[in-house]
Order: sequence, then structure tokens, then C-alpha cells
Amino acid sequence: MTEKRIFITGGASGLGKAVALKFAREGFRVCIGDVNNDRGKETETELNTITSDAFYTYCDVTQIEDIEKVRAQLDDRWGGVDIVVNNAGVGGAAGALEEIGLDDWQWVLDINLMGVVRGCKTFIPVFKKQGGGHFVNIASAAGLLNAPFMSNYNVTKAGVISLSETLSSELDASNITTSVVCPAFFKTNLTESIRATNMGGIHKKVNKMMSQSKISAEDIADSIYEAYIKNEFWVVTHTLERRMWYFKRIVPQGFSALMKYQAKKLFK
Ligand SMILES: NC(=O)c1ccc[n+]([C@@H]2O[C@H](COP(=O)([O-])OP(=O)(O)OC[C@H]3O[C@@H](n4cnc5c(N)ncnc54)[C@H](O)[C@@H]3O)[C@@H](O)[C@H]2O)c1
Repeated sequence: MTEKRIFITGGASGLGKAVALKFAREGFRVCIGDVNNDRGKETETELNTITSDAFYTYCDVTQIEDIEKVRAQLDDRWGGVDIVVNNAGVGGAAGALEEIGLDDWQWVLDINLMGVVRGCKTFIPVFKKQGGGHFVNIASAAGLLNAPFMSNYNVTKAGVISLSETLSSELDASNITTSVVCPAFFKTNLTESIRATNMGGIHKKVNKMMSQSKISAEDIADSIYEAYIKNEFWVVTHTLERRMWYFKRIVPQGFSALMKYQAKKLFK
């Protein structure tokens, strides 16, 4: 059994919770941070039926002091951490760019992008001191494909991909590895945090797409574990979106025409 240690932001629900349970089953000690205390405590109880050492701690990724507090907790309790999963995220503000308020942009940027920046910045010194470590940054297929009417969410996820690619070379000499995870829709509680402008029924539409997904949070957690074991950077879990990403790189003009068609269809 491994004695390794993992910290997951947004670990009380959805993908973060599935990753916590997967790594607990693989023998890891697990710390989850979140802003939802009820779900955090419930997940902690579930984790402690699997692993010898798991705990929930309040950690808002928009607050650098909260992440630094977790760093200190992990140092006291475990003497460090081997994997940091920057997963906490919100669904963003759906709608046309001219209708999305700048306050909504700030909100989603601060959690989805700056939360990952804060997570990496806080734990790089820990990884360097202990001679290595692994980041798992949760982006999205949205950051590869940039579908219409999701501008702020797309930008944050493209930013997470860019940050992760940068760090994978920047930190290579320090034995610090990175995976970036780019799933399409799967069923979680993410729609609770979608703000909508005039896109009527967006929550219902997204819930439907999530429910229709053949890929679950548990499947993605398995892929993340495999990528960690094999030291793989890209984790692009959904076949259709992976093919569209290849198509975009090989036939960029064809991809652009397809996205324009999609945008028109959304307004029918
Ligand atoms: N579900 C999908 O279809 C999908 C697709 C691609 C990417 N993702 C990404 O997966 C990640 C996890 O989302 P999910 O789908 O499991 O949704 P979820 O809502 O079930 O889980 C997100 C968790 O993040 C927490 N959170 C929100 N703001 C926070 C903050 N400021 N600090 C700390 N925790 C915070 C929430 O309380 C929640 O527990 C997100 O980054 C999301 O963008 C989800």
C-alpha cells in the first residue's frame, strides 16, 4: 500500500469527490478543500470508511490565505503532499458577451483560473523542497474547442490549459509533473453554479447533456489516476470532443465553419 498524500480543491462534490474516493481506494491519504461544509463533512465520512487518514478543510480558492493554511495543515499532519488537484470550479455565466456583466467575468476568472494559479503557486515550493510532486489541473474540452455563448468559462479553461503547458516545461527540471484534464459534459452538481443571461432553460439543457453523457465522474477519476501513474500530460476523456480537437488542428477553417453553424443552431 502506498503512503502517498493528495489534496483536492472542490473535493466535496462531483469530479473532486470522485477523485478523492479513487485515490483513497488506491491507498492515498486524502485532504479535500471546499466551501460547502455540509458536503465536505459528508465526503470526509465516506472517505474515512476507505482510507486510514482523510479530512475535509474549508478552503476557498479565491483566498490565498485559505490555500496557505492548507499547506501548513498538510505540513503539520503529513510533512508535505505528493499530488495537488486544482479542481474547484463554477459553471460560469452563459450568454452573449455583450450581455455578461464584468462582475460575472471577475467571479468566474477568480475561481476557475486564478484558483488554479493560486493552487500551483502555493504548492510549487513544497514540491521543490521535497524533490518532486504532481499537479492535476482540471480544465475542460471547453478550453480546447471554445463553443459559442460560454465565453468566460471557455477563457478560464483555455487559461488553465495554457498555465499547465507552461508549468510542464518550467518545472520539469524540478521533477514536478503536471496533467491537464479536459472532459466534456458529465453528471455533477455544476449547473448549480451556472449564471444565465437571456439563455432560457440553460440549466435544463446542460443538465440534459450531463445526464446523457456515457462518461461519469468516476470514469474521469480513473483516467486521472492512470495519467498520474503513466505521467501523461493530456487527459482528454470524451471521444467526440477529442476528435473535434484533432479536427481543429488539422482543418482549422473547417472547424471554424462548424462552430459558426453551431452558434446559429443555438438561436433557432
Ligand atoms: N461537470 C462537467 O460537465 C464538467 C465538464 C468539464 C469540466 N468540468 C470541471 O470539473 C471541475 C469540477 O466540477 P464538477 O463538475 O464536479 O462540479 P460540482 O459543482 O459538482 O463541484 C465543484 C466543487 O467546487 C466547489 N467550489 C466552488 N467554488 C469554490 C471555491 N471558491 N473554493 C473552493 N471550492 C469551490 C463547489 O462547492 C463544489 O463542491 C470544475 O473545474 C469544472 O469546471 C466539469
